[in-house]
Amino acid sequence: MPIPAPVLYPPFNITRVSHAAHTVRDLERTREFYCEVFGLVVSHQDMDMLYLRGVDEVCHHSLVFRRSDEPPRCERVGLRVLSEAELDKAYEYFAGIGLAPAWAEVPYQGRSLRVTDPMGIPLEFCARMQRMERIYDRPDLQRGSSALRLDHVQLHVTDVQAALDFYFRLGFRCGDYMTAGEHDETIFCAFTYRKDNPADLVFMSGQGPRFHHCGYITPSFQDLFRACDIAGVRGLGNQIERGPGRHSVAHAHYVYMRDPDGHRVELLLDVWHQMLDLEIEPVRWRLFGQHTAGVWGLPAQAAWFYQATEFAGVTPQPVRHSHQMHTLEKYLAARHAENR
Ligand SMILES: [Fe+2]
Repeated sequence: MPIPAPVLYPPFNITRVSHAAHTVRDLERTREFYCEVFGLVVSHQDMDMLYLRGVDEVCHHSLVFRRSDEPPRCERVGLRVLSEAELDKAYEYFAGIGLAPAWAEVPYQGRSLRVTDPMGIPLEFCARMQRMERIYDRPDLQRGSSALRLDHVQLHVTDVQAALDFYFRLGFRCGDYMTAGEHDETIFCAFTYRKDNPADLVFMSGQGPRFHHCGYITPSFQDLFRACDIAGVRGLGNQIERGPGRHSVAHAHYVYMRDPDGHRVELLLDVWHQMLDLEIEPVRWRLFGQHTAGVWGLPAQAAWFYQATEFAGVTPQPVRHSHQMHTLEKYLAARHAENR
């Protein structure tokens, strides 16, 4: 079976993806992009750090940026656990399997636990953050697309099956997955979750580990389009990498952009919910065919499949199972050949 059996009583209780931390060269450029285009809100900014949250978020940050003159990197992926006691259980679990967890003092967070997973992804767990004002009901304070909240993080890993095996032991379940073909069980991409919608962590086969994107929910298609309009008039139109379009998986509207340092971010409309019911089976999609890019629209350009942010201090490794991607470039070349 490619998809492991759910572990209903994991060693500690992860509740959701919580935050991501990147380095960037210019915090003001970063702030303009995320606040004026996406509509995130500044929780704190100083000379070296920028902490952002969505308008629906009451916890201090879901995106953190540290100024650095080095090439842009992702520093860690954050996950929430239910309580302080779960953090202690997490420490014991990771120490027990030889992963060398370490406690960290992190601003605006409670006690935080850092560990690198077997794929090489630097993780950070916490149970508490400083509480902030939720401005969901304050349209007078909202900008851009009024991005509501962090929904998921997508990661390139060299072996999706290995990632599934590890994260299923931590209680993650799979809502959707994509295989290479009708008779090929190799998993190209898997959407795993702890909260009640399709994705907290998405694992896609590729040179890894690398950070592919984080996705924020936006209220409406008009808000998503408004982000594109604002990006265009601010001279950032070329940073719209894919879409707007509609995914086949979870049927969500989306647009992908690259921020000024090349970190990829997605805006998407709310998606179907899993409700955590046990009778819901993972949905299998095919890598090729109508559903690859969605039920309509153009395939993604090659950069979307192959480019991603490296983790700080982690050298990406070659992918274990290589897949032929149905890219926009191949699609256009084929159409061009047909029409000659
Ligand atoms: Fe996504």
